[in-house]
Parts: sequence; C-alpha cells; structure tokens
Amino acid sequence: MEALRITSAVAPPQSLIKAHLSKPIFTTPFTHTTSNLTRFSKSKLTKLNVISPSVSTQTETGNLDHQDEKFDWFSQWYALTPVADLDKRAPRGIKALGLDVVVWWDKNENAWKVFDDRCPHRLAPLSEGRIDQWGRLQCVYHGWCFGGSGDCKLIPQAPSNGPAVHSSTKACVAVYPSTEQHGIVWFWPNTDPKYKDILTKKKPPYVPEIEDPSFRTTICARDIPYGYEVLIENLMDPSHVAYSHAGIMTYSPPPR
Ligand code: FES
Repeated sequence: MEALRITSAVAPPQSLIKAHLSKPIFTTPFTHTTSNLTRFSKSKLTKLNVISPSVSTQTETGNLDHQDEKFDWFSQWYALTPVADLDKRAPRGIKALGLDVVVWWDKNENAWKVFDDRCPHRLAPLSEGRIDQWGRLQCVYHGWCFGGSGDCKLIPQAPSNGPAVHSSTKACVAVYPSTEQHGIVWFWPNTDPKYKDILTKKKPPYVPEIEDPSFRTTICARDIPYGYEVLIENLMDPSHVAYSHAGIMTYSPPPR
C-alpha cells in the first residue's frame, strides 16, 4: 500500500468501489457516532477539549505535543458521502456526527447542498421530499419549497394576495457549508452564519494522490457500527483484503 488516507465521515448504505490504474489508495469514509467521538486512549491524549453546541465535552490527559489546544469537532470539514452514491433527482438523508442532514442537488447553483433534515414548518424530514420542476427542495408534508440558500421560496397555502410569509427567517432551513472534492461531498457540521464562507478560509484536506492518474483510488463507503480504532486496525491489516474483498479489489497475493 503506497498511501493510506482515512477521511472521517459518514457513509451511506451503498458501497462504491472505484478503481483506476495501478497504485492503491484507500479513501474510507466511515460512520461517526457521538459515542465514538468521545472515546480516546488516555495514553495518547493530552488535554483535549471537545467543544460543541450539541455534543458532550470530554477532557483527558496524556502526552501529545499540542497541549492545551482546543479541538472543536464541529469546526472541521468532514467527508459526507461519495457523489457516486447520490442521485441528482432526489434528496438523500444521512446521519453525520449525530446530525440528521439532507444532501440534494441544486441545479440552479450547480452544486450539492447540505441542509438540516428538518422542515422549519412541522419538522418533517426534507429527505422524504422531492426536487420540484424548478430545482427547489420541496417538503413532502405541506409542499414548502426551498432554494439553495435555505430560503423558503413558496408556501403553497399562503394566499397570493397576503403578506409574503415565506420570506420570514423562521421559514428558512439551516444550511451547512459544503463543497465537492475528490468525488466526495464534504460538509462543515455547523450552521452558525459565521461559517457561511468558511470555504474561502479553510478547505477540506486535499490528497493529491487521489487526483493523480498514476494512482488507483478506491472509495468504499459503508455504514459500519464501530469506532475508528477498529477501522484503523482493519486498514493496517492488508492480509485480509484478498479474502474479505474478493472480486472487488485488486490485490497481488504474496508469492508462495
Ligand atoms: S412540515 Fe414541511 S411543509 Fe409542513
């Protein structure tokens, strides 16, 4: 294995395997749960303050270089899903870092959008909705329609000659910053407006080998109910590849 890249992420139920050329890279999104986020090895960690508006905080002591450095799990880019697992014609619900989000294709902005998966009206999951003929995300319950900025474009029940109730900020959906890179939709799991333009200041981690045609890229996305410690142990154990991934990954067995 020439290169190993692990992107902490949330995985959809479908698996995607892509292979080109000869050198393998493993880009392996996996599911985080809240409990996984707060399990650390005491021997490896120093003072790690996990800060988040919605997830518990844990501090442990140990022996790391970055003492007293605060790490905010909700102020980072995360690989959310391979684009190949998405359908531009329909929204898709994903749980990421304990957050329910919906990913959908905004044809007006030509970009994937990541919204809170709750309609501001009666909290119906927007992932159960549809993309309407104008490319808006439409709630399946009462048909409210939303644009790529989370703004409500239409409340069908509102009288056409009445106040523009759809323009109320209360009718907006919370939007997560998102971007596409390496064939993956990345999201910033914080809808605070101060992060609206975070992409201009901080970008997702870039792995040049993934874009290098002399490398082979394998993107494998699954929901797996275990923590990253087990996944890393698995990735450091290439001897299982020929058997567990028979027929889907190229692997040269050692000479006998
Ligand atoms: S719950 Fe979404 S429009 Fe009513």
